[in-house]
Order: sequence, then C-alpha cells, then structure tokens
Amino acid sequence: MRPVWIVLGATSPLARAFAIEAGRAGAALLLVARDAERLAPVAADAAIRTGAEVDTLVADFAEPAGLAALATTCWDRAGALGDGPVCLFAAAGTMPDQAQIDAQPELVRRVFAVNAVSLAELLQRLAPRFEAQRGGRIVVVGSVAAERGRPSNYVYGASKAALQTYLQGLRGRLFPAGVGLTTVVPGFLDTAMTYGLPGTFLVAAPETAARRIWRAAARGREVVYVPWFWRWIMLVIRLIPEPLFKRLKL
Ligand SMILES: NC(=O)c1ccc[n+]([C@@H]2O[C@H](COP(=O)([O-])OP(=O)(O)OC[C@H]3O[C@@H](n4cnc5c(N)ncnc54)[C@H](OP(=O)(O)O)[C@@H]3O)[C@@H](O)[C@H]2O)c1
Repeated sequence: MRPVWIVLGATSPLARAFAIEAGRAGAALLLVARDAERLAPVAADAAIRTGAEVDTLVADFAEPAGLAALATTCWDRAGALGDGPVCLFAAAGTMPDQAQIDAQPELVRRVFAVNAVSLAELLQRLAPRFEAQRGGRIVVVGSVAAERGRPSNYVYGASKAALQTYLQGLRGRLFPAGVGLTTVVPGFLDTAMTYGLPGTFLVAAPETAARRIWRAAARGREVVYVPWFWRWIMLVIRLIPEPLFKRLKL
C-alpha cells in the first residue's frame, strides 16, 4: 500500500525536507503552496530526488473563501495518488516583524488567518474524512513562540498558541479513530522566516529538523520539540514569574 502525504506550505524549506523524507519512504506527495511558480521546481525536485509520484495544488491561507473546496480537492487528489492512508503535514506560516504589525494592526488578522484560522478550518473539514479512513497521521508545525508571549513577537506567538491548543483537542477527537496527530514545536530554523532576524541562536538546519520530525511521527509522538533541547529551554522560560518576565527584553 502506498501512503500519500498532503504537504501544506510546501515551498517552506522545512516542508520540502519533510516531503523528501516521505517520498524516500515510498509515499506519494500532494504539495500545496500559494505560489504556483515557486511550487513547480519544488515538486520537480521532490520527484527527481525520491522517485515519488507528485501532484500540486495552489492555495492561499490568507483567503478564507475556498477552504471547503480546498478540503475536498485535497482529499480527492490525494486519494487518486495512492492506495494507502492519507496523511497531512502543515508548515504554512507567516511571521511579519512585530514592529510592522505595530504599525499596521490589520496584520494581526492576517497572521491569525494564515497561522491558525485557515488551518484549523481546513483540518475541521478534513477531520471526518480522517475518521472515516480510520488511520493516517497529521503533523502540524507550531512554534516555541506559542509558549510565552514576548514583546518581540507576541502576535505570531499568540496565533501559534491558538493553533497548538486547537491541535490538542483535535488529537483527542481523532484518537478513537486511530488517527495520530503530532505537534511540532521548533525553536529557530535556518529559513527565510529567520533570515537577518536579530537575536536568533542555536539555529537548526531544516533538513535535520525534518528528519527528527519524520522519525517522531513514525513513532507516533504527540509533541516533538525541534531540536530536542528546546523542550528544556522553554520549561525554564515558562517558569520565570510574570513580574520578572515583563521586565526582560525578549
Ligand atoms: N524558521 C523558524 O525559525 C521557525 C521557528 C518556529 C516555527 N516555524 C514554523 O515553521 C513553519 C515553516 O516555516 P519556515 O521557517 O520554513 O519559513 P518560510 O520559508 O517562510 O515558510 C513558510 C511557508 O508558509 C507559506 N505561507 C506564507 N503565507 C502563506 C499564505 N498566506 N498562504 C499559504 N501559505 C503561506 C510560505 O509560502 P511562500 O513560499 O509562498 O511564502 C511558505 O511555504 C511555519 O509554520 C513557521 O511558523 C519556523
């Protein structure tokens, strides 16, 4: 049986590396991204490097209209690619500079739409299909930023916190149907999102991160920090009392 991975945000370096892992493991790939021109070489690269059958779809998560049709199209096109379970990896996300959001408050809506609302609606629409399939796995990329609101990126962090709380509930809903859900909690990754950003440290390569995520998903892990040490860094950060935390320039 050949499983199929739907990959959302497929032009992200993390998603590209994850798709390569899935393709090498014998899965077919449905790559979904918002920019057709950037998606085409990504799809060609995945097909050449893995030998996987690859299909593509274009969707913009800032546009809530069309998510019902996207859910149906995704499921149908994925079903046509393989005879095994359909699985889903979601890496679409946006992180405008906090100063830019402060200057343009309407960006709050966009950040929440892309990082949380559209993805939650899409998963909500796909959930009955996953339940009926009685198997498969969903892997969604959150962020350590969700775990403590910091002045330097609290809108992004809040959107990821909404997503991660949503995923906790969805995990419980899908569990009786045998559908697994892995929440990925990365620290800093070496991608366009962090390029030139001040204050980044312990930056991980997306390929290394994707390998860890792939292994964690295969083992049925519920939550995976990438790299692993961020679990402990965030534990310490969560323990800092609020009266002190608000004084820190983070
Ligand atoms: N980089 C980090 O340090 C870091 C840390 C923690 C979590 N994360 C998360 O990891 C995931 C992957 O990000 P990345 O680091 O690989 O950054 P990235 O290269 O900027 O990738 C973000 C992806 O989201 C897509 N996207 C952005 N806006 C979209 C929209 N309106 N509709 C549909 N797709 C949209 C992008 O498409 P385009 O290619 O068209 O822009 C791209 O595929 C994100 O969820 C991010 O929040 C990253």
